[in-house]
Amino acid sequence: MPTSDLRTLYAAHLAVLETRAQEALARGGFDHLVVPSGSLHYQLFDDRDYPYAVNPQFKAWLPLTQVPDSWLVYTPGDRPKVVYHQPFDYWHVVPEAPSGVWTEHFDIAVIRTPEEALQHLPKNAARCAILGEAQSALGGYAPNNPQAVVDYLEYHRAYKTPYEIATMRQAQRKAVRGHRAAERAFRAGASEFGIHLAYCQAVGQDAVELPYRNIVALNEHGAVLHYTELGRLPPKPARSFLIDAGASHHGYAADITRTYAADANGEFQALIDAVDATQQKIGQLYRAGNDYKRVHLDAHLLLACVLKDFGIVDLSPEAALETGVSSAFFPHGLGHGIGLQVHDVAGFAESDRGGKIAKPEGHPYLRLTRVLEPGMVVTNEPGLYFVDLLLDALKQGPQAGAVNWDRVEAFRPYGGIRIEDEVLVTDGDPVNLTRPAFAEAA
Ligand code: GLY
Ligand code: MN
Ligand code: MN
Repeated sequence: MPTSDLRTLYAAHLAVLETRAQEALARGGFDHLVVPSGSLHYQLFDDRDYPYAVNPQFKAWLPLTQVPDSWLVYTPGDRPKVVYHQPFDYWHVVPEAPSGVWTEHFDIAVIRTPEEALQHLPKNAARCAILGEAQSALGGYAPNNPQAVVDYLEYHRAYKTPYEIATMRQAQRKAVRGHRAAERAFRAGASEFGIHLAYCQAVGQDAVELPYRNIVALNEHGAVLHYTELGRLPPKPARSFLIDAGASHHGYAADITRTYAADANGEFQALIDAVDATQQKIGQLYRAGNDYKRVHLDAHLLLACVLKDFGIVDLSPEAALETGVSSAFFPHGLGHGIGLQVHDVAGFAESDRGGKIAKPEGHPYLRLTRVLEPGMVVTNEPGLYFVDLLLDALKQGPQAGAVNWDRVEAFRPYGGIRIEDEVLVTDGDPVNLTRPAFAEAA
């Protein structure tokens, strides 16, 4: 993206954040928004630090993910301020001097020790809404995370600004580079670990920079929803490959899943194609005004059709949903909001004043129960899996007779299928953010 476009988009994004912050502060009865970037955490009884994870409330304002012990200060009516920690340190690489399109919008105070931040924070700590972790407390400035302020900001973070969407598209492009390299590595016979390394190399990100741990699953491992073991030896034969892997760009996440079959003419490939077609059909339901709880249930009905078409389950889609049989094969939520966090906040928020929208009964893993609205970016990730634990329970239950167990046994060695894209909800048709990135790279 040309810098001039980015500059314009970022300025508009910041204006939205300022407006949101003004309302959030008014609701909480505070004068200043103060956000520490967070600091390093150390392992117990050890001097080794964990990978640093920036406070999402901080990176919402700034494309800065590696400046621990820094602060954002916003007082309505004033220019926002960044207290930028750039220590004198010859043990580590320190953050570079502030640069980038954000710098022209902020007053910037560079500090050399964390304690120096104190002189740059608003004088009256009691008038500050301080959003951060307890460990960030400095002098009299301890994070208070006022509920009214947090509820308001988190609720509205579901609606992405054009800057955020442009940034998320960049994250998609990076992740797609990794996915293409990963498929090549699978087809060349690599192990899960080898595929993971090929993925990181192509994305240009180390595991700790990715927005979540890569799921690289060959054969039966595809049935473990969050399989992160990374086997060091390739199985023989490698029949199938499920990869759920993302990338980060300026603090924003991509979250993409693809599934591949070694045999392009086999039945597992046909099942992948059917799930893929169903996923695209489901994507058409990502429309403003649609209740996401309903979309999730509609996805069950559509996947139940696939189970029936492939002779795996002999039940009407409605009966498969009703009896929980569809959940045995699709045991997770259809999707979740995504942005600064791979599982974005406020998925259940009833309003910007709090409250919680319950999940549909029998669907404990759904992460989004809100009505879809323009600006939301939500993953679309249906799947069908052959999970021993769930199949054993199904076999013991009253619906055992509705399942063709020979068909289940035939698919079990392939693990499972998930296809995951990000979809932007608009005033009109849904906009898939992931598929154009694959098309562009092809
Ligand atoms: N990668 C985790 C998820 O898809 O939600
Ligand atoms: Mn995923
Ligand atoms: Mn996801």
